[in-house]
Amino acid sequence: LGKTIIHKSVTPSTQQVAHQAVQEDAVHGTVIIADEQTKGKGRMNRSWHSAKGKGIWMSIVLKPEIPPHLAPQLTLLSATILAETLAEFTALEPKIKWPNDIFIHNKKTAGILTEMQAEQDQIQYVVIGMGINVNQDVDEIPEDLRGKATSLQIESTNSWNITELIQHILVKFEDAYSKYIENGFSDVKVIWERYGYKIGEIVTIKTMRESWKGKFLGIAEDGALLTTKDGEIKKLYSAEIEWN
Ligand code: BTN
Repeated sequence: LGKTIIHKSVTPSTQQVAHQAVQEDAVHGTVIIADEQTKGKGRMNRSWHSAKGKGIWMSIVLKPEIPPHLAPQLTLLSATILAETLAEFTALEPKIKWPNDIFIHNKKTAGILTEMQAEQDQIQYVVIGMGINVNQDVDEIPEDLRGKATSLQIESTNSWNITELIQHILVKFEDAYSKYIENGFSDVKVIWERYGYKIGEIVTIKTMRESWKGKFLGIAEDGALLTTKDGEIKKLYSAEIEWN
């Protein structure tokens, strides 16, 4: 992992660079890093603010030999890697909001966007995009997000070395990824639940069709969200959870 690193000072989106790199035969583990993105992409078609030198805007190309339906596990795995790295590196206490947002002090600090290309029940490749707000001040967080988004600097009152942080993430990624490929999801589940936010608490669960209040029970052996609904346990693969 990271034997090939493509560094861009400015690019629309490292995800886009990653897809392009695959067309040009990028190998498994290719890493794309940008100082600044002009069209950073978030989940659900949202945009992702990626100002110059303020954070980590990085995409990793993976070519895992797992069936496509297991790809969401790679996203949960990536969230555990970020949470563990941030905990070790900053001594802050990151939490993972299901499935993969990193929260510190109840505000979002990092997000993960997974994009997969699959054909005939086989993964061609996956791009894991990670966005981490590192050295923004409060006034550098867009005004409409200030109540919800934060950075490592805001929460720790320190600035952080972005290159060092990237190195730590890549070292941990390499190790955690190969363990996952060898041993499967069960260890990832344990680490995910160590950092999982609001486990055991009543949260609002939103699916495409409905929303209700239920107890967030943690994640299943395969990574699905476990929650209660009308006294029964439900397993969900695509949902959002919220609280006040
Ligand atoms: C989210 O919505 O929480 C996911 C945000 C993912 C942002 C990262 S920054 C690097 C990579 N390139 C992008 O355009 N998006 C991802």
